[in-house]
Amino acid sequence: MAKLTPTSQVTMREIAEQADVSIGTVSHVVNGTAVVRPKLKLRVLKAIRNLGFQPSALAQGMRRNRIRMLGIIVPDITNPFFPAVVRGAEDVAFNESYRVILCNTDNKPAKEALYVAELRSFRASGLLIIPAAGSDIVSELSPDPSGIQRVVCIDRCPAGWTGDAVVALNETGAYQATKYLIQSGHRNLALITGPSLLANSVERLNGFRKALSEARIAVSPEFIQEAAFDSRSGYEAGTRLLRMLPRPTAILACNDMMALGVLRALHERGLRCPEDVSLVGFDNLEFCEYTSPALTSVYQPGYQMGAAAARLLIERINGLQDPPKRIVLETELKVRNSVLPIASAADFPSQSVRPSKRKAKPVLAG
Ligand code: RIB
Repeated sequence: MAKLTPTSQVTMREIAEQADVSIGTVSHVVNGTAVVRPKLKLRVLKAIRNLGFQPSALAQGMRRNRIRMLGIIVPDITNPFFPAVVRGAEDVAFNESYRVILCNTDNKPAKEALYVAELRSFRASGLLIIPAAGSDIVSELSPDPSGIQRVVCIDRCPAGWTGDAVVALNETGAYQATKYLIQSGHRNLALITGPSLLANSVERLNGFRKALSEARIAVSPEFIQEAAFDSRSGYEAGTRLLRMLPRPTAILACNDMMALGVLRALHERGLRCPEDVSLVGFDNLEFCEYTSPALTSVYQPGYQMGAAAARLLIERINGLQDPPKRIVLETELKVRNSVLPIASAADFPSQSVRPSKRKAKPVLAG
């Protein structure tokens, strides 16, 4: 029989013929499913080497119903925050001899549902997910109660989520950023939120409102703009805010990508940051050090979120039976150069601030 080149598709039958053993014996050697006499095992291993057979670890794992593979699903791989989360998770997974399959949903619930179904058909050991806005993962997983046990939500939990989660203190982060702007003398503050379907967007909005309420500062409804956590929507929201009269003197963008869009909107209108409009972001991405001006931003520990979620998931896979856990990580305001005090706080007695009399004129949408 002609020697098959290692690249050809080598079958168990060919190995059995060359080793002069049964196909069952070859299967036991390849899959480790039974003890084979050393003499026979040696013949099989020699035939495998001669024929260039490469057993499929994936196929082996599926047969044993145990693949050391974690799925990780993210909504937007182009946003630098998410790769930091993936990196944290992958470092932990690698150290525990797990491999990671990365899935990007483009924030589409239907694509997310497809990935969840496929990862389960691959019998992945567990799933880490940063849900898309409008995610239906709760119903996707609930038919199989055990299914939710090996899923950890990261960064934001969909409505009705009852499983494990790792999140950041979103409300506190936005509260601290808003308080910093108020203490810098700003009274006409605006907010650009992420998608209102996402829990972390709502939490950041709540933090913004809480700080204003404590300072008894009113906010015009038009000064709260919803965007999509990307630079394009941040630019569009920033443009709408900058057309308003009076325009806000400070903008809190609920992520750095949207803050980047606001910087472009300011530049296009010949406005300066922070001289004309102060700006704060959220995530504290690396580029905040390199924008002009360097961007003040709320740091949230993406890497640590991913690492903590992977550790928790692997504990679950190894049999942890504790009730569902919610790990909450701290945020921290990183002050740089994008906020200018507009007047000493003494000019605005802290508790008796009146909202600005001239309402921002709403701008026709578009
Ligand atoms: O930048 C992406 C945003 O979406 C981050 O603020 C993170 O919290 C994620 O939800």
